[in-house]
Amino acid sequence: MPAQIGVTGLAVMGANLARNFARNGYTVALHNRSVAKTDALLAAHGDEGDFIRTETLAELVENLEVPRRVLIMVKAGAPVDAVIEQLVPLLEAGDIVIDAGNSHYEDTRRREAALAEKGLHFVGVGVSGGEEGALLGPSIMPGGSRESYDALGPMLEKISAKVDGEPCCAWIGTDGAGHFVKMVHNGIEYADMQVIGEAYDLLRSGAGIEPAEQAAIFADWNKGDLASFLIEITAEVLGHVDAKTGKPFIDVVVDSAGQKGTGRWTVVSGLDLGSPVSGIAESVFARALSSQRGQRAEAQTALEGAVSEVALPENFVEDVRQALYASKLVSYAQGLDMLTSAAGEYGWDLKLDEIASLWRAGCIIRAELLKDITKAYAGGARPANLLFAPAFRDAIAAALPAWRRVVATAVQLGIPVPVFSSSLAYYDGLRRDRLPAALTQGLRDLFGAHTYGRIDAEGTFHTLWGGDKSEVAAVDTH
Ligand code: 6PG
Repeated sequence: MPAQIGVTGLAVMGANLARNFARNGYTVALHNRSVAKTDALLAAHGDEGDFIRTETLAELVENLEVPRRVLIMVKAGAPVDAVIEQLVPLLEAGDIVIDAGNSHYEDTRRREAALAEKGLHFVGVGVSGGEEGALLGPSIMPGGSRESYDALGPMLEKISAKVDGEPCCAWIGTDGAGHFVKMVHNGIEYADMQVIGEAYDLLRSGAGIEPAEQAAIFADWNKGDLASFLIEITAEVLGHVDAKTGKPFIDVVVDSAGQKGTGRWTVVSGLDLGSPVSGIAESVFARALSSQRGQRAEAQTALEGAVSEVALPENFVEDVRQALYASKLVSYAQGLDMLTSAAGEYGWDLKLDEIASLWRAGCIIRAELLKDITKAYAGGARPANLLFAPAFRDAIAAALPAWRRVVATAVQLGIPVPVFSSSLAYYDGLRRDRLPAALTQGLRDLFGAHTYGRIDAEGTFHTLWGGDKSEVAAVDTH
């Protein structure tokens, strides 16, 4: 019997996706550049379902039903192009090439256009959930043509995570839409982890609460508004004791955070779109600063750290919980706002309720909160900003006094809280009736005749700063 899908690239993510398809009753043809990996997978898990062992891409393709579905799971970048180049001559019009790696959405747009010219479908799929998710049910964000989704979507839905039987998988939109949404998911993942880190630092360095006790606090927080995978595993990591030293595990880990690029891509894309994803940006910068180990070491003696004496607010732990919740909400609001901007730019009809809904389970940012976010956009409701949805507007208003106290306390203690504070600045910036951007405009007009608008008249204007300071209507030079 021919296979319904072929998987090439059998490192752990590819292998686990292949096993997931097989466990769900599909026949899966397997290929890897070195056959040893294919054989290792078959030896360990060959009894989980129907697999076809192949040694070459040509053999993989020969073993597939038509339209052929070939899923590539190799390192993002040049390796994806290399596999596509070998694969394309082996395929026929109507076949579907799937890239399930963390590819950049612009690469996906380019590849989709190139393959479409040959009559092939190229589907960039965002897959979240790590190794375990890939095996047991990830959150899946497929882009590409609607037609390709008809042939592929049901299979992806079947292997995805479920919430009350509903799959965490839906067609996102054409060309790079799936990878774009996965990229923003990862940006939010960065911010989520950074706000957790800021809360931990405040509780440890501000309130002197040791990791073991914090593990219990995070486990408790996981029962309320903050319930989420990342809070749950924070309790696990903070509770872990290093076997070698008997110290808290967290104290023996080098405090430099790595990054593979998706957070940075989100920020670059946010800058290009003019979308203020400040929380995500601060998270990426916080990782970058953590990695400047040389400068950080020198700063221990080079820089003064005078801080004010400050009494901690009475219910500091609860205040931190609320600040964490509010800052997390802002990150989601910023990420979703960026999706709206991208939809306009790239002509995607991104459905925010569906996207929030498929992030409810399987993925790294899965959280109770996403159920309410799904509801906020349900039935075509489109609040201009997530924070305007009544449930969130009220939640953030309730958290606001605690949030301000925490940021003020952190500043006085000299504990950096870049996402807590930038999220609060975003919130205050949004709601302020007059921003100092008016002054920026005045300065730009003075030094560069960049012109400005008036609050009381249509058009653009320029003041003759070097002359009699009279105002003239600006001439459109474009
Ligand atoms: C997921 C994760 C996954 C990966 C990140 C890690 O959704 O399953 O986001 O894609 O863990 O890419 O990214 P960094 O190494 O940049 O933290």
